[in-house]
Amino acid sequence: MSTYTEDKRKVTTRRLLEMKQRGEKISMLTAYDYSMAKLIDEAGMDVILVGDSASNVMAGNVTTLPMTLDQMIYHGKSVVRGVNRALVVVDMPFGTYQGNSKEALASAIRIMKETHADCVKLEGGAEVRESIERILCAGIPVMGHLGLTPQSINKFGSYTVRAREEAEANKLIEDARLLQQIGCFAIVLEKIPATLAAKVAQELTIPIIGIGAGGGVDGQVLVMHDMLGINKGFSPRFLRRYADLGTIITDAVAKYIEDVKTSDFPNEKEQY
Ligand code: KIV
Repeated sequence: MSTYTEDKRKVTTRRLLEMKQRGEKISMLTAYDYSMAKLIDEAGMDVILVGDSASNVMAGNVTTLPMTLDQMIYHGKSVVRGVNRALVVVDMPFGTYQGNSKEALASAIRIMKETHADCVKLEGGAEVRESIERILCAGIPVMGHLGLTPQSINKFGSYTVRAREEAEANKLIEDARLLQQIGCFAIVLEKIPATLAAKVAQELTIPIIGIGAGGGVDGQVLVMHDMLGINKGFSPRFLRRYADLGTIITDAVAKYIEDVKTSDFPNEKEQY
């Protein structure tokens, strides 16, 4: 059991800022349903992200692009019902904020009204500035996401490390500064060199949460199915597996099948 669960107060964006200020690392993990969100919250997670990675690990799509606003709202509602303490962030799916800032605001308002989550996350820097500003004007906290941004996979062409080149690294630093300046409360940096991520975390006053961005940032996020060993086909270098639930589940299900086939289940005590 985690030793970081004594403070039962609800995590807020303000408390994340205070954590950065006192050097306490922020824990963040994805969840997509009520039962897992409840377990993750009870373990003491600071932030639960209803990621659009639901597209991959829940729906079996190759990319995050097919995810719809209605689907994110369904997952968001389910997660919020299971959470008491963690800050719940819902990803804005592809196509709901990039083109038109009024549509972005309408999408964010639907997420907040229908899921009761605490805030939204969206991908990109200067190119989505107008959308972020409009959402912030409505009092909705926004978490940014830079570096490898999976909704732009068709532009990048691969999931390799981003911002290795100077020009891309400089653009990332500029975008991070902009996101802080316009009012984002935190930024996720995905799959970029550790030195670059640490530089951003040192310069900016808002929390920087990394995934594949090294240990010099203010917190870490992973996809739940990856770190619990449910999604076995995915093993990038940055991933640490904390359990092999894939094997545990397959073995348990195989044993159940055997017990049914051999009439071992149900026994006399397991019937009325
Ligand atoms: O959708 C997601 O799970 C994410 C994380 C990878 C940060 O955005």
